[in-house]
Amino acid sequence: MTALTLSTAAAAGLRADAIVVGVAKSPKGGGGLVVAPGAEAVDKAFDGKLAAVLETLGATGGEGEVTKLPSPSGLKAPVVLAVGLGTAPGKDATYAAESLRLAAGTAARALNGAKKAAFALPLTDAEATGAVAEGALLGAYAFDAYKENGKDAKNGKGPLGEIALTGGKPRDKAYKAAVERALAVTEELNRARDLVNTPPNDLDPEAFAAVAAAAAKEHGIKIQVLDEKALVKGGFGGILGVGAGSAAPPRLVKLAYTHAKATKHLAYVGKGITYDSGGISLKPAGHNETMKCDMSGAAAVFAAVVAAARLGLEVNVTGWLALAENMPSGSATRPGDVLRMYSGKTVEVLNTDAEGRLVLADALAKASEDKPDAIVDVATLTGAMVLALGNRTFGIMANDEAFRTSLHEIAGEVGEPSWPMPLPDHLRKGMDSPTADIANMGERMGGGLVAGLFLQEFVTDGIAWAHLDIAGPAFNEQGPFGYTPKGGTGSAVRTLVRLAERTAAGDLG
Ligand code: BES
Ligand code: MN
Ligand code: ZN
Repeated sequence: MTALTLSTAAAAGLRADAIVVGVAKSPKGGGGLVVAPGAEAVDKAFDGKLAAVLETLGATGGEGEVTKLPSPSGLKAPVVLAVGLGTAPGKDATYAAESLRLAAGTAARALNGAKKAAFALPLTDAEATGAVAEGALLGAYAFDAYKENGKDAKNGKGPLGEIALTGGKPRDKAYKAAVERALAVTEELNRARDLVNTPPNDLDPEAFAAVAAAAAKEHGIKIQVLDEKALVKGGFGGILGVGAGSAAPPRLVKLAYTHAKATKHLAYVGKGITYDSGGISLKPAGHNETMKCDMSGAAAVFAAVVAAARLGLEVNVTGWLALAENMPSGSATRPGDVLRMYSGKTVEVLNTDAEGRLVLADALAKASEDKPDAIVDVATLTGAMVLALGNRTFGIMANDEAFRTSLHEIAGEVGEPSWPMPLPDHLRKGMDSPTADIANMGERMGGGLVAGLFLQEFVTDGIAWAHLDIAGPAFNEQGPFGYTPKGGTGSAVRTLVRLAERTAAGDLG
C-alpha cells in the first residue's frame, strides 16, 4: 500500500515528483478562482499568480478537476497538480471533510505511476488532516494482483508510492492520531476491496475464512469457523441450503473483538456469497459477470471488526461472515424445497437467486443469541435497491427508527451516501407460504423492502437491528471518481467503523 506521513518539511523544499495544491471556486461567485490554504509557498513561487495561471489554463475549481503544470524555480518538485475542491467556504469556515477526501483521492489517482508526491492541501485541523489522508490512501488504491509485474498492461503504471502531507502539525497528538486512524481504516478498507476484486475461483468460502483467521491472529481477535460438518450439527439450514450446489462448502465465521472496559456490544453480520450464479434459478448472461461482488457485505464486516481492533475501541464488536457459493448442480437446493433454518422456522425456497436472505437469516438468528445492544447487517441483497437508489447510495432499513436515523447521519458524516427506507407491514403477506412458515420471495414491487421484512423475522429478543442494502454502491462498474476506484469499493466499512467509534464514545443510546 501507498505510504503516507505527516511531513515536518515545507512543501516547496520537498523532493517529490509533484506537489498537490487545492483550487476552488470563489465563494463570492463570478467565476473567480481561489487557491486553498496550504499552498501559500507554491503560490509565492508563481509570484502570487497561481490562481490567475490556473484560470488561463481553463481551471474552474470544480470537484474532480485536475490541472497539471510545470513548476517555476523555487520548488523542488517539477510538477504542480491543482485539484478542484468545489466552492471555497466563506470567511472563517473550513473545507468540508468530504470535499477534502474527494480532492485528495482524485489527486492520488491522477498521480498513478509517480514515486512520491507532496500534498499541500488545507490541513486546517486534525479532522481535515484525517480526511485528506483517508481520501489520498483510498484514491491511491489499485488491484494489480492479477496483472503482469503488478502493473496495468495498458499504461504500465502502478499506484502512487509515497505521500507526504505538508503544512500540518506533525508533533500535535490529535494530528498524529488522525493520520494513524486513517492508515488503519484505509488499510482494512482496501483489503475489503481486494477481497471483493479477487476472482471467485480463488476466493471460495474456505479461502475467505482463512484470510479472516490470519487477520484475527495478527490483531488479537477471537475467531470461530464453523465448517460444513459444524453447520449440519448446529442446524444452519439456510447457509447449508445455499451452499448445497457448490463443490466449495459453506462457512460461518465469528470474529469477536473485545475491550476490557467496554460497556456496549455491537454485532455486525455480512452477506458473503463468494459467487452468486443464481443457483437453479440461474441468472442470465449479462447479470452474472460481476457476481463475485456478492460477498461485499462480509468483506465490509470483516474490515470493520479488524479496524475496531486496530484502533483499540472501547466497545465489543462481533462480526459474523455468512459464507457460501450459490451454484446450480445435482445437489443444489431446488425452487420448491423447504429449508429448516437455524431459528427453527421453515422457509420455502421459491427462487434460489434470493439466497442472501437465507444465509443472513441463520447468521442473524445466531447473532441474536448473544443479545448484543444492536445488530447491523450489510448485504448486496437486491437489484430492487439499485433501481430505487442508483449506484452510489445504499438503503437503510431498521426495526428502530432512531437507530435508522443515527446510521443515516453517521454514513453522511463519513461520506457514504445512504437513504432511510421503510419496512411496510402489508408486504409481509406476499411471503406467506402454503407449506412453510415463510417463502423467500414476495411481491416484486418494493423487492428491497420485502427482503428487509424477511430478515427482520430472524432478529429476536427485540434487539435493535438495521439492514444496509449495498447492492448499488458495493461494486463500481463505471469509471473511478474521487477516492472510489473501479470494482470493489469497500462500501459500508467507514459507516460501521464510525458506528463503533460513536458507540465506544457513548454517543448513542
Ligand atoms: N446478489 C443479488 C443482488 C444484486 C443485484 C447484487 C445486483 C448486486 C447487484 C441477489 O442475490 C439477488 O439475486 N436478488 C434477487 C432477488 C429476487 C430473486 C427476489 C434480485 O434482486 O433480483
Ligand atoms: Mn442472488
Ligand atoms: Zn446474491
